[in-house]
Amino acid sequence: MPLLVYTLIAFFVLFLLSLTPPGANFRRWMMAKLYSSVQKPYEPYIAGRKKTLFTNLSGTVLEIGPGNGANFVHLPESVNRWIGIEPNPHMHAELRKAGEERSIEADFRQVGAEGMEVEDGSVDSVLSTLVLCSVRNPEAVLRDILRVLKPGGRFVFIEHVAAPSGSRLHRLQRLIKPIWWYIADGCCPDRELGKMIRNSGFTRVTLDEFTAPREAMPGFVSPQISGVAVK
Ligand SMILES: C[S@@+](CC[C@H](N)C(=O)[O-])C[C@H]1O[C@@H](n2cnc3c(N)ncnc32)[C@H](O)[C@@H]1O
Repeated sequence: MPLLVYTLIAFFVLFLLSLTPPGANFRRWMMAKLYSSVQKPYEPYIAGRKKTLFTNLSGTVLEIGPGNGANFVHLPESVNRWIGIEPNPHMHAELRKAGEERSIEADFRQVGAEGMEVEDGSVDSVLSTLVLCSVRNPEAVLRDILRVLKPGGRFVFIEHVAAPSGSRLHRLQRLIKPIWWYIADGCCPDRELGKMIRNSGFTRVTLDEFTAPREAMPGFVSPQISGVAVK
């Protein structure tokens, strides 16, 4: 049998295994191990943008998918309470360490953003960096973000998004998606998150589109957006 057929069979078996609890746990472990190497070139590149975006955060911040806690260093002193919704247990040791270094009142929850049990209108801001690509239902999560924000509260985000429809990069994103989904714990490179955020019922959305350079991020996740959506 040609190599391609073996590869496809192996991939299909891996995909089926990933749907079992041990398989999903393996994918999360792999993501936790691989993520710091993806982050290494990206964090210095994105640091300035994060600093600017996070400047006005204050009070209680709820962060979805904080991973290993890369955003703690950018949170201003005016943030005095932090709730982290991180479903990957293999991220939690590093996440707690980063939280301790920032010495903030931190509440770590090992659940997905889909199941966050957070009171309506209870947080000043919600933060998400490179997370909406991975949640199962981004529209539902955006509705929940709106629900937990206080009136006037802000959703602050940096996300990678779909390239323009019909472009070569968009085709590449769709081609690579099944493999990337497996390796990167459910990440979909072709989501139109800007459109979804604009259509989620926020009163005002400020959004900047940019392209991360090749040295910072693989090309198929280079189209990105950052911004603030106000409730
Ligand atoms: C690419 S990492 C980004 C981590 C971090 N926000 C950062 O910028 O370094 C994606 C994160 O989203 C988390 N994640 C995946 N599915 C999620 C879900 N349904 N709800 C909340 N977080 C989720 C992953 O566990 C992972 O920590």
